[in-house]
Amino acid sequence: MNILMVSSECVPYVKVGGLADVVGTLPKYLKKQGHDVRIIIPKYRSIDGVKYNLETLPYRLTVKVGKEQESFRIKTCLLDGNVPVYFIENMRYFNRLGIYGDESGIGYGDNRERYIFFSKAAVEAVKAIMFRPDVIHCHDWHTGLIPAYLKTTHANDGFFWNTSTIYTIHNISYQGSFEASTTLPLAGFSWEDYKSDKLEFYNTFNFMKAGLAYADIISTVSPTYAKEIQGPAGNGMEVVLQVREKDLFGILNGIDYSYWNPADDKYLNAKYSSSDIKNKSLCKKHLQEKCRFAVDEKAFVIGCVSRFDSQKGFDLIMDTINKVQHLNIQIVVLGSGDMNIRNGLLYLKHIYPEKVSVWTTYNEPLSHEIYAGADAFLMPSKFEPCGLSQIISLAYGTVPIVNKTGGLADTIINFSKDSLSGNGFVFDFSKGEQCVDAVINAYNVYQNQTVWNKIISNAFSSNYSWNKSMEQYENMYNTAVQKRTAYTIYQI
Ligand code: ADP
Ligand code: GLC
Repeated sequence: MNILMVSSECVPYVKVGGLADVVGTLPKYLKKQGHDVRIIIPKYRSIDGVKYNLETLPYRLTVKVGKEQESFRIKTCLLDGNVPVYFIENMRYFNRLGIYGDESGIGYGDNRERYIFFSKAAVEAVKAIMFRPDVIHCHDWHTGLIPAYLKTTHANDGFFWNTSTIYTIHNISYQGSFEASTTLPLAGFSWEDYKSDKLEFYNTFNFMKAGLAYADIISTVSPTYAKEIQGPAGNGMEVVLQVREKDLFGILNGIDYSYWNPADDKYLNAKYSSSDIKNKSLCKKHLQEKCRFAVDEKAFVIGCVSRFDSQKGFDLIMDTINKVQHLNIQIVVLGSGDMNIRNGLLYLKHIYPEKVSVWTTYNEPLSHEIYAGADAFLMPSKFEPCGLSQIISLAYGTVPIVNKTGGLADTIINFSKDSLSGNGFVFDFSKGEQCVDAVINAYNVYQNQTVWNKIISNAFSSNYSWNKSMEQYENMYNTAVQKRTAYTIYQI
C-alpha cells in the first residue's frame, strides 16, 4: 500500500512532543511490512540541511493563501536509509526560531496561515513527486484541512480518486480554532462547506473539526482515550466523535526499543539491561551528582520529563513536592513550555535545593539520564491521549507513578502487594485519590528492595512495541481504502 504521513513533527528532524516520536517511528515498521511509506513535514529553520544531507528537488511550486501566492521548494532525504521524507521549504512561514511559537511559549500569531499553507503545499507536493497514495494519514490539527481539501477543492482531481484519508487525534485540546469570516477565504473553501456537519464548529472555523468531518477514518492513540473523547474529555468534539463512532479507531502507540534501550544508549555512561541491572545504580549516582543532590543510594529518586502544560498535572506534582519533604525523596524535573509552571517549579527548587532539581530546556541527553537514573517516573496527567514517557520509563526499569487516564490507564497496572503483579503505581484522580498518596505508597514499597526489584522486573517485561499495533494499523488502512471506494462509487 502507498501511505503518506503528513505531520508537523517527526524525529529525528523536529520534536516538541510524542507526535514526533510516533511519526518518525511508525513508518519504519510499516515499511518492514512491505508498504511504500513517505512523510511530509515543514522545513523548520532548526532542521539542519547539512547534517541530514537534504537534497533539493527541481520544483518551485506555489499555492495560494488567501490572495497571496506562496512559493515553496521540496527538500528530501531518507529516514533510516529507506523511508523518504519530504520537507516543505518556505522562508516566510518556517524560517524562524521556534516551531509553534516563541521561547515564552506564546504561539505565533500566524499559525493559521502557516498550516493552511503547509496543508495546501503537502497536497501539491505529493502530486509533484508523483507519489499516488492509497492513504494520506494526517496528524493533529495542523493537517486537519487535508481531508477537507481532498473532498472539496480537489474532489474532481483524478490524482486523488483512489486516495483515502485518515485523521489521527494526538491531543484534542489543540484544535486550531479560528474566526470564520477571515479563515474561510484564506483557506480557500466555499461558504457552502461552512456547515455544522462540515467545517463549522460553534461559529468558528476549526481545523480539527475539518479533519474529523471529512476524513474517511479517524483514529486516536489509545483505546481508553478513544472512549473518553466521546464524553466530557472531548473538548467540545464529543458529539462529532459520537456521530463517527463506527469510524473511530483507538490504537495504542509504541516506542522504538532500538532507540530507547539502556543497554545501548549513547547518552548513558553506564549501560544496563533487564538481565544485568547493576549499572542502573551508577546512572542514579550520575544523576544525583548532576542535580547536586546528596549521593545516597537509599534516596528515592523521582524523575519527570514533560512539556510544561496543565495537561500534565503540574499542580499535583508541585503539591506532592511540598508534601514529601519529610521523606528521603529527590525529585528531578526536565521540561519546557508554560512560563507559570516553569516559575512555580523554579520556586520550589529555590526553597528545596537539596531535594528538587529543575531543568527548563528541551534536552534529549538529559532526558535519557533521567529515564535511566531515576527509581520512579512521575506522570500524573489530568488527561493523556497515550503518553510515551511512561512507556520509555518501563524500558529503563524506572517505575511509573501515573493517574488513571487515557493511555496511562492502558499501559500501567497498579502494583499489588498480594500478587506482586503490576508495573507501576496508579491513582484515580477522578475518584478523589491523591497523587501524593501514590508517591508515598511507592516510597514505602521501595524500602523493601526485593519487592521493588520485582516491580522493576515487571516494568522491563511490559512490551509496547510498534509490532504489537501493526496489525491494527494495517486493518485501519484497509478499512479506509474500502470506505473511500464506497464513497467514490456513491459520488459517481
Ligand atoms: P506529549 O506528546 O504530550 O508531550 P508523550 O509522553 O507522548 O507526551 O511524549 C513526550 C516525549 O517528549 C517523550 O519522548 C519525552 O521524553 C519527550 N520530552 C518532553 N519534554 C522533553 C524535554 N524537555 N527534553 C527532552 N525530551 C522531552
Ligand atoms: C500527544 C499526547 C500524548 C501522545 C502523543 C503521541 O502529544 O499528548 O499523550 O503520546 O501525542 O501520540
